[in-house]
Amino acid sequence: MDVIIVLDFGGQYAHLITRRIRDLGVYAEILPYDVNLRMLEENKPKAIILSGGPGSVYEENSPQLSEQFLEYTIKNKIPVLGICYGHHLIMKLQGGKVELKTKKEYGKTKIIIEEPNLLFDSLEKEQIVWMSHGDQITELADGFKIYGKTKTCPVAAYGNQEKKLFGVQFHPEVSNTPKGDKILENFIYKIAQCKKEWKLEGWIDNSINDIKKVVGPKKKVILGISGGVDSSVVAVLLNKAIGDRLHSIFVNNGVLRKNEEIEVQETFKNKLKFKNFHYIDAEDLFLERLKDIEDPEEKRRIIGHTFIEVFENKTIELEKVNSDIKFLAQGTIYPDRVETSATSKASAKIKSHHNLTLPDDMMLEILEPLKDLYKDEVREIGKKLGIPQEIISRHPFPGPGLAVRIIGPVDKIKLDILREADEILIEEIKKAGIYENLWQAFCVFLPLKTVGVMGDFRTYEYICAIRAVESMDAMTANFSKLDWALLEKIGTRIINEVKGINRVVYDISNKPPSTIEYE
Ligand code: XMP
Repeated sequence: MDVIIVLDFGGQYAHLITRRIRDLGVYAEILPYDVNLRMLEENKPKAIILSGGPGSVYEENSPQLSEQFLEYTIKNKIPVLGICYGHHLIMKLQGGKVELKTKKEYGKTKIIIEEPNLLFDSLEKEQIVWMSHGDQITELADGFKIYGKTKTCPVAAYGNQEKKLFGVQFHPEVSNTPKGDKILENFIYKIAQCKKEWKLEGWIDNSINDIKKVVGPKKKVILGISGGVDSSVVAVLLNKAIGDRLHSIFVNNGVLRKNEEIEVQETFKNKLKFKNFHYIDAEDLFLERLKDIEDPEEKRRIIGHTFIEVFENKTIELEKVNSDIKFLAQGTIYPDRVETSATSKASAKIKSHHNLTLPDDMMLEILEPLKDLYKDEVREIGKKLGIPQEIISRHPFPGPGLAVRIIGPVDKIKLDILREADEILIEEIKKAGIYENLWQAFCVFLPLKTVGVMGDFRTYEYICAIRAVESMDAMTANFSKLDWALLEKIGTRIINEVKGINRVVYDISNKPPSTIEYE
């Protein structure tokens, strides 16, 4: 299968580009910008895209390409497309001139396409594109042609057909560049001559066959189910591949949403007819350990460690009667595992299961059937597998659950207040038909008391904050401009129906600079 490699120069761009390329029908993978040539060769890329990034090519310590990189691609006739930062980098390496402009250009701009070329094939001469840059090319290297310019940017796109090097100053991967997909499509099909082979249709059969092959006819697999889409898809895939040889464990950690433990059991035991589904009610243990803990990282650590302990104990217990449990399956997806360059390294999350310390002789092998997929691809697969829509479209829910949505110490009283408020919010959002348009919507418990008045009485109760965000991948997010009437209804219902809350506020912060969750 043809592969396009996206080299990550930081920021959120590489994932966006990779997703766009896959949506267009070619498999794409991310590698760090400083990948060595041998590793690059092993991937046999049909083409390479250099992502944008927050740096300037002249900044000290800014990510650079190795000297041999372009020599290698030119010699092997591998097309390279530089986007924004990548666009500057190619030009600088090829002997052009890139200058730092004090005034940054940011936002929608009109670009005029110069002379016919494959990159902009079948596009009209004027295009709207999304710009975000400080550096600018002021002198073109020999052998390059200007493909496009804007009022302020003389080299907004360039190409060198012979060397197969191309660059665009703007971001074709974002939706604010309306014809961005067409430009990427031209690059992968007309310039790189890729075959359209990445489809999710055959993926399920291949994956089931792979699982069968790896697990063999007798061995068993253990899996932690969270109720979210990733672990549910893994569960159903494994169930199809090995049937009852899958043991799934669902731990109630005490910080779940209202009725979640009932709904998850109902889905897997009753609807999907899972036989070896093990429910563990560990609410008391978790809440006891979380008592009086203020620090969010400490809360996370306690929940993570306690989960591992409970999960391990159950695994050991199950293994006593099923000595052939040899695999631990996980719902790791592509963005979880990509080890990218400097900026994104810092945000890499390691799923807690990696820290299991089971007895040496158990030596469970890890199975990660979704490791190459993005969330929307996982949802697509889930749909094809017949997983109930309420699981597929479920908003992401953090592992530490409601504990990171209660500021400061967590206890059952606060949890129950938050659960009630959250249930009302979700119910109203679903009723309004906008649940699936939102990345996440949830309530947050603020342990601050303010004065209110109910009937003839003065009240002194807590504040509930409502967070509703739109996002593609949680790396950036905008608060949703919910309808006032809807917000009013939600606020009124929460104050009237949830004892303990007398004030509701709406969060209007974007990410960055804020995060989606509060802790
Ligand atoms: P932030 O708050 O960093 O969240 O903007 C980005 C996305 O990650 C989820 N999130 C977590 N998921 N464990 C998880 O499994 C965590 O500790 C955690 N913290 C944040 C969050 O819900 C959002 O979708």
